[in-house]
Amino acid sequence: MTRRISLTQYLIEQQRQHGHIPQELRLLIEVVARACKRIAISVNKGALGDVLGTAGSENVQGEVQKKLDIIANEVLIEANEWGGHLAAMASEEMEGIYLVPNRFPQGEYLLMFDPLDGSSNIDVNVSIGTIFSVLKKPEGSKGISEDDFLQPGSAQAAAGYCVYGPQTTLVLTVGDGVAMFTLDREQGSFVLTQEDVKIPEDTKEFAINMSNMRHWDAPVKRYIDECLAGVEGPRGKNFNMRWIASMVADVHRILTRGGVFMYPWDKREPNKAGKLRLMYEANPMAFLVEQAGGAATNARERILDLKPSQLHERVSVVLGSKNEVERVTRYHLEQG
Ligand code: AHG
Ligand code: MN
Ligand code: MN
Ligand code: MN
Repeated sequence: MTRRISLTQYLIEQQRQHGHIPQELRLLIEVVARACKRIAISVNKGALGDVLGTAGSENVQGEVQKKLDIIANEVLIEANEWGGHLAAMASEEMEGIYLVPNRFPQGEYLLMFDPLDGSSNIDVNVSIGTIFSVLKKPEGSKGISEDDFLQPGSAQAAAGYCVYGPQTTLVLTVGDGVAMFTLDREQGSFVLTQEDVKIPEDTKEFAINMSNMRHWDAPVKRYIDECLAGVEGPRGKNFNMRWIASMVADVHRILTRGGVFMYPWDKREPNKAGKLRLMYEANPMAFLVEQAGGAATNARERILDLKPSQLHERVSVVLGSKNEVERVTRYHLEQG
């Protein structure tokens, strides 16, 4: 019988062999994973658990919150606040940062999350997820403020997501490649199912919301037009398109079989930002994708090099198979 490796065992082995995940970080990741298990239970209950539909409130980005956005946010806070490894948290669903209450011990890490990614897919029973990013509290900072979170993605100590689909899968990097863990519901534990995940450098599959085409910038239009031209066009091959509208599920497909994912800035927005959020969507996904040998840019620069200026900052995203991301980026840079 092949040996089953649980998330706990994997993390302990990482800690022993590579020495670069401290105990606190290991515990933090395990707590996040436990919260994801609880979220998976709510997601699976659906209408039976009265978790579908909207909550009637709005978040700081002006989006109508779904019940599950709020439930997942609460589960993550409740699971993480008492463990002693965190100083503060930030989330898509909270305007400001959440300080660990004084009654709990304070730790060295900062946790950011998109508690429920793909909210528009909740009610239609399509894959959704949770995205998380872990930073170290800056040296010497006493009281925690929003500024402490504004570190470039290259400073992330760990990042990952959990996809709630036909299977519940946790995908993780601690800066030493990407590993995938499938939730074994009978055992109640995440089991290592793929190590050293690699994204193929080339692909014939792209993911973009085509309904925004009329608003796109010229280099995006050029790239997609060339893909659509197929074997007769300049690319000399036929492309397929997929768009799930849950970033987690689209990125999961790309980590599994390659592809390019784009949510570019378009002309409806004056400030050249895209739709997705840098701190808890683009950065953790960029870290995972790079660790799997892919690339991630804002169509011009590496996402992980961007210096954030706001917690809920938005950014253009192009990520996935390296040669395609480089091509899209080159088309933008050529435009000047
Ligand atoms: P969230 O549900 O966390 O607000 O994120 C939704 C994001 C992302 O998951 C997805 O890629 C994108 O929005 C889909 O946008 P469209 O509905 O414009 O396709
Ligand atoms: Mn949202
Ligand atoms: Mn999201
Ligand atoms: Mn969300």
